[in-house]
Amino acid sequence: MSPISSYALVIYGASGDLTRRKLLPALFNLDCAGKLPRAFRIIGLARSAMDSKAWQQQAAVAIAGLGDEAQRAAFCERLVYMPIDYDSVADCERLYDLLYHCDDCFASQGKVLFHLAVPATVSETIIRALGKSRFAPDGRMVGNHAILVEKPFGTDLDSAIAMRKLLMDTFEEEEIYRIDHYLAKDTVRNLVVFRFCNAMFEPLWNRNYIENVQITVHEKLGVEERGDYYDQSGVVRDMIQNHVLQILALIAMEAPLAADAESTRDKKNEVFRSLRPLLPGDWVLGQYDGYRQAKGVSPDSTTPTYAALRVYVDNWRWFGVPFYLRSGKALAEKLTEVVIVFRSNPLCVLDDPASCASVQRNVLRLRLQPHEGIHLSFNVQKPGIADEGIDTAQLHFNYADVGQITQESYARVVLDAMLGKPGLFWRSDSIESAWEFVAPVLADEKNAPPEGYPNYLPGSNGPASAAKLPRQAGHNWYS
Ligand code: BG6
Repeated sequence: MSPISSYALVIYGASGDLTRRKLLPALFNLDCAGKLPRAFRIIGLARSAMDSKAWQQQAAVAIAGLGDEAQRAAFCERLVYMPIDYDSVADCERLYDLLYHCDDCFASQGKVLFHLAVPATVSETIIRALGKSRFAPDGRMVGNHAILVEKPFGTDLDSAIAMRKLLMDTFEEEEIYRIDHYLAKDTVRNLVVFRFCNAMFEPLWNRNYIENVQITVHEKLGVEERGDYYDQSGVVRDMIQNHVLQILALIAMEAPLAADAESTRDKKNEVFRSLRPLLPGDWVLGQYDGYRQAKGVSPDSTTPTYAALRVYVDNWRWFGVPFYLRSGKALAEKLTEVVIVFRSNPLCVLDDPASCASVQRNVLRLRLQPHEGIHLSFNVQKPGIADEGIDTAQLHFNYADVGQITQESYARVVLDAMLGKPGLFWRSDSIESAWEFVAPVLADEKNAPPEGYPNYLPGSNGPASAAKLPRQAGHNWYS
C-alpha cells in the first residue's frame, strides 16, 4: 500500500526522449509494484498538438514488453495529455482547472508533483509562468506542490545561483527535488551502508591507512544522438560536476549526525567545501577521435569528452590523500568504480627479499556498474614445502548473490520525491560549491588549442597523458 492517498504527477516534456525512455517505464514499474495510489494521474504537457489518446499510444510503445496487457492498459488509463505553451500563464491556468476544478479532482485532496523533463532554459520559462498563475497567488506556490528538476542545474556558478533564486522565489527549498540519478543506483546507495553499517572499514577510512582513492566513470558509448546538448556541455558539466563529485562526497564524508536526509546532505556539503581549489596541472582533458564528426557537434569543437582530475579534500581525515577522478565517453568499456588503495606496510618481516618485493598494497574495489560487487585484494603465502613466495588473493562479493540490481533509478527518484524524501537529491548549497570547484577546468576549456585537446582513440582508455596525474605521486590508475 502506498502512503500517498492521491497524487498528480505533471510531466513537462511529455513527448520527449526522457519521458519515453525513462519516466514512463519507471512509472509503469511503480504501478505494477503497487507503489502508486489508486487516485493517481499522470498529466503530460508538451508543445505537440495531440490528445490523451495519442499520448497513451506513445506510452504503450514506451512500456511495450513490460508487465502484461491488462497492467499496461490500466496504466495508460491514468494518462492525460494537454498541449501547452511553456511560457503561457493562460495554459498554467488551464492546468490548474484540470487539477482542481474538474469532475475528477484527484489533486485537490492530494499532492501535485511537477516534473520538468525539459532542457534547463525551458525549465526557467515554466517556473516563471507557474509563479504568475493561480498556483502561486502571491508569486509563491500554495498548497501541496513539489517540483522535480533535471540536471544541469545551471552551466556555471552564476547561472546556478540564478536558477536557485528563481526556484526559491516560487517554491520552498524542501519542495525542490534536484535529480542526480546516480544517487538512486543501488550500489551508490550502498556506499553509506558499506561505510557506516560495518565496523571494520571505517577505522581504516582515513589518511593514516589510505594512500589514494580513484573514482572512474567510463562510458563505452560516444555522444550518439545527443551532440547538440553535449557539445554545449562537455564531460565536466555532464558528469564530473555532478555524478562524480557525488560519489566522491559519499566516499569522503563524515558519519551523519542523525539518520535524517539533511544530516547526510550536511556532511556531503562539508566535503564540497573542503575541496582544495584546483590549480593548472591538476587536470587533463581530452576529446575522442571522430567526436567532431558526430551529429550536432561543431566541426571545430573543443568540447572535452574526457577529463581526469587530481583532487584533495583538505580536512582532518583526508589531508594529503589524492583522489583521482576520471570520466569520459567512447572508452574501452562501461565502468563505474571506486578503488581504495591502502598504504603499504612500514617494513617487511619476511626473510626472503623476493617475497618482500612481491607484497602488494591492499586494494578495495567498489564496483558500482556493471558487474556490481566489492573486491578486496590481500597478500597470502603461496602453499608448498619450499619458500614459494607471496601471492595476491581476492575476496569477492557479487551483488547478484544478494539480489537483482535495480536498473530503473528513475522509479526510485520519482517515488522518493512523491514521498517527500530528499536524500537522493542535490541541495542548492552543494550544487554551488561543486560549480565553484570545477570553475578553473571550465575556464581552461575556453583556452583549448585550436587543434583541440590530446585526442584519444574510441575504444581506448582515454588520453595517455591522464597517466601523469597519479604518476607524479608514484601512483598508477588501477584497471
Ligand atoms: C547522464 C549524462 O547524466 O548520465 C549522460 O548526461 C551519461 O551523458 C549518463 O551517459 C550516464 O548514466 P548511466 O546511468 O548510464 O551511467
